[in-house]
This record gives sequence, structure tokens and C-alpha cells, in this order.
Amino acid sequence: MMFSSAGDFEQKFPFQKEISEQIYFLLAAATRAPSTHNSQPWRFKIESDRLFVYRDTSIKFPHSDSVNRYAYISIGFLLHHIETLSSWLSMNPHITPVNKDDCVAEITFSPAIKSESTPSLVAAIFRRRNRRGNFEPKVIPQEVLGEAASAEGSPFGSPEITIATNRDVLANIAEATSINMKRVYKNPAFRREMAAWITPNNSSRKSGIPGYSLNQSMVMSWILPKIIRFINMGKVLAGLNRAAIVSAPAAFGFGAPDYPDGWVSVGFAASHAALTLVAHNFDYAVFVASIEYDDTRQSVGEIFGLHQPLEFLFVAGTLFGEASWMTPRISVDDKLMKS
Ligand SMILES: Cc1cc2nc3c(=O)[nH]c(=O)nc-3n(C[C@H](O)[C@H](O)[C@H](O)COP(=O)(O)O)c2cc1C
Repeated sequence: MMFSSAGDFEQKFPFQKEISEQIYFLLAAATRAPSTHNSQPWRFKIESDRLFVYRDTSIKFPHSDSVNRYAYISIGFLLHHIETLSSWLSMNPHITPVNKDDCVAEITFSPAIKSESTPSLVAAIFRRRNRRGNFEPKVIPQEVLGEAASAEGSPFGSPEITIATNRDVLANIAEATSINMKRVYKNPAFRREMAAWITPNNSSRKSGIPGYSLNQSMVMSWILPKIIRFINMGKVLAGLNRAAIVSAPAAFGFGAPDYPDGWVSVGFAASHAALTLVAHNFDYAVFVASIEYDDTRQSVGEIFGLHQPLEFLFVAGTLFGEASWMTPRISVDDKLMKS
């Protein structure tokens, strides 16, 4: 189910129905949350007023996410979306970390009540998308950066957030991540894994990264996975990576303890940051393939001045051009665990 706006979602919301149906409907919008390779690594169980969020263990990235760091960060984004949307509808979400048998969180809700107004973060959920490319030379006001970095702590903890705006620091981040991009793309297994998650523009597949979101034409969206798989494009991609980061007015670095709760806390805070930027009409682009090796994570973390391990990185600003698309999502039905 796709919604054109928060208003469209609220108009269709089943306020008169049982709370379990309301939670189900809420998930249709909350799963607009971004995820690594658009893999949507979550599953759900709804029991009356209770929602259990699991990591979908059938989704595996042995060469680009061997410890499931990005799967948990994605789930952090999702939980933040669930909290933002359900708080808006006065559902009083109460999130309890579980971290047992792939269950990440248990959330209880009260029945939804129609809202008086739409907070800007809620509106942003329905227009947010991850874009790639070079940024216009336009600064992000300090107040917006401050607001983006001021997420309230989650039940999973509060990560360390640093924002780099200094040109030399951004150039150093761009250089270090580009070197790493060349290294990861030398690995044929990494390339094979990456290629399998690029989706042609007219595909009916509901997961994976659509070619159009990588700025690719229809023809190129079919060819690109084969090129990535069979040819080492590391140099070209490293160049694009460098140009994008160097052109960005700001880079956000997130540090946290290197375990699942730390990763979920990063996703939660990064979701707040990304939605805040979108609410102020800025774009953002995630770069994590470029920090996949531990030595690079460490050196880029040091460039950011982080004290905790660097877990996630995105750059922000105003991207050139327009985007009219939204990436597809798997239906909530297909993500429900049948018990
Ligand atoms: C944990 C995480 C890691 C990601 N890593 C990258 C990345 O390395 N490079 C990239 O271009 N996009 C990355 N993305 C963005 C996803 O590809 C994007 O969110 C997904 O395709 C869904 O698209 P949407 O955000 O436009 O809805 C990442 C997103 C998340 C949440």
C-alpha cells in the first residue's frame, strides 16, 4: 500500500477498527523506512495491542554485512518510523528492547485518535527517499543541523553523533571511503552480492535498489547488475563516491557500541536526522559500503572525531535535479509471521 501523503494515510486509517488492525495499517506506512539494499530485513507478529518486531534472518549479506550491523540499523530506522507515526495518532507506543531469538522489540499501543495537525517529521516519512549524486553548493543552516542531531534517546540507548562541515574534513572522509570502495569492489563475491540487489526499472520485484534511484535509464538498469557483477568498477564508483562526499555541505557520523542494541540506537537517531533534513527540504545520501572494512571504519571514525566505533555515515545537502519516484516495498502481509 502506497500513500501519497500523511493526509492520505490518515484519511484511510481504520480509526473505528480493532487495535490489531490499526497496528497492521500503521506498518504499511512505517515500512517506508529505508533499509540496507532496500532488503527490508524485518518481520512482524501482531497480538492484539502488541507488536513484535523481528529481524528477518532469511536475508543475508555475508560479504557486505557479515555481522548484520546494517540490518539492525535498518530496524532502528523502522522503529523510529513506528514511534513517530503512532505518537502522532496518540497511540502511546511503548517500545521494549527484546534482543532474544531474533526478536528486536516488543511495542504496545493504545487505540488511535485522529490528529489535529501533521508534524513535519510525519509528513517527511511520505516524501523521503534516498538519493544519490552530487550536491549543490548550498549550506544547511546550523539550526537545521542542530535539530537533526538532537534525537531523543531511544530505549536502545543514545549514539554519539558528529557532523562534519569543514571542507578539509569532508575531503578526508571522501578520500578514505573512496580507497575502501576500490578495495571492496576488487572482491568478486562482494560484487555478486551487490549486483543481486539492483532491480531493473520495470521489475515487479518489491525489494532491492531500483535502477532509477541510482540515476539509471531503463536500459542501463538491466545492464548495470551484469557490469557490477563481472567487471571491477571500483575505480569509477570510488570516483563517484568521492565527488558526492566532497560536494556535500555536511556529513553525519554515528558512533555506538558495536552490538545489536547499539546499531538499533544508531538507526533510530539517524532516522530522526534524515527525516528532519527532509522536513527542511534537504536531501541525504547514505554511504556505508564505503566503510565496510574495520580499519576504514576506524580511520573514518577518527576523522569524524568519534569516541565510539563509527557505525553509519550519510552526507546531506541539496542534490541537483528532481526525483519523482518512490522505491517499492514488500507488503505487510508478506512480512507477518504466521504463528
Ligand atoms: C543501514 C543502511 C545502509 C545503506 N547503505 C547504503 C549504501 O551504502 N549506499 C547507498 O547508496 N545507499 C545505501 N542505503 C540506502 C538504501 O539503499 C535505501 O534506503 C533503500 O534502497 C530504500 O530506498 P529509499 O530510502 O529511497 O526508500 C542504506 C540504507 C540503510 C538504512
